[in-house]
Amino acid sequence: MSESNTVTVSIENAIATVTLNRPAKRNAMSPTLHIEMADALEKLRYEKSARVVVITGAGESFCAGMDLKQFFVELKDNPPEFDRIFRVATEWRSRTLRYYPKPTIAMVNGYCFGGAFAIVEGCDLAFAAKEATLGLSEINFKHYPGGSVSKALANLLRPRDALFYAMTGRTFNGDRAAEIGFVNAAYPLADLKKEVMALAQEIASKDPDALAATKDGYRFSLEMSAEAALNFAAAKSDQLSMRQKDSWRSEGIGDFLEGKYRPGLGGHKAPAE
Ligand code: ACO
Repeated sequence: MSESNTVTVSIENAIATVTLNRPAKRNAMSPTLHIEMADALEKLRYEKSARVVVITGAGESFCAGMDLKQFFVELKDNPPEFDRIFRVATEWRSRTLRYYPKPTIAMVNGYCFGGAFAIVEGCDLAFAAKEATLGLSEINFKHYPGGSVSKALANLLRPRDALFYAMTGRTFNGDRAAEIGFVNAAYPLADLKKEVMALAQEIASKDPDALAATKDGYRFSLEMSAEAALNFAAAKSDQLSMRQKDSWRSEGIGDFLEGKYRPGLGGHKAPAE
């Protein structure tokens, strides 16, 4: 593993852009990339200047999936190392992203294959270039959507769409990705960054603790009985009040009651750093 800088991070106006950075390999996820991505997400978790995380790819590709050579072939005879990398690879795309305390957005700027579907699904929101090419290519090389990909498909897609694309390996574009609900919307590539950054900025203006509670309320409720979800929600509300020093009541509702703004039509500003 001699490569480095396979992931780059830049922070501007409270938005962290995390870029898969192996453009010559179409940003295929090598073992080093998985380790560097896990590290980058860990650091950003506690980075106060970053309120929203956008994940994208360098060059013409978002991510060409797992590095087929470095992961499946070169680690074939090294089961402990294969297992170590598999665990890191699965952890950041499924668990870390899914329960990340900050809003995450996948910006699919180009090729998106196989294992990259788990990145897109793990993020809260996703947008694609209309020109992007997406596909579950595993079947084309006699494999199937393994690791966390099958679960990602089951979480996000309708059964007919998931199995159609998984069984044919056919590609589809950004518009189709939006149509089947794999991404929120598709924009011309030339506008993608502008659109995503504007949305990221809008979300960054919301209260960060309220955003974290929004994510937890949704994500964890999916796995709970109705009774447990209600109980969890009540506890979350108390946690939120404590973290914000009750400002959702005193400022959020308070300012509305004083006629300062209308929450139905727009947000109360996030607290300053
Ligand atoms: N793993 C390893 N190397 C890759 C991968 C990958 N997933 N994708 C691209 N590369 C490498 C190529 O081997 C090539 O390397 P080289 O220049 O050293 O020969 C380089 O990236 C450029 O690839 P090209 O095929 O020349 O680029 P092109 O733009 O013509 O095609 C495309 C891009 C469509 C992404 C093609 O490379 C491809 O089909 N890649 C495999 C996609 C795939 O099936 N991914 C696995 C999904 S399943 C999973 O993630 C478990």
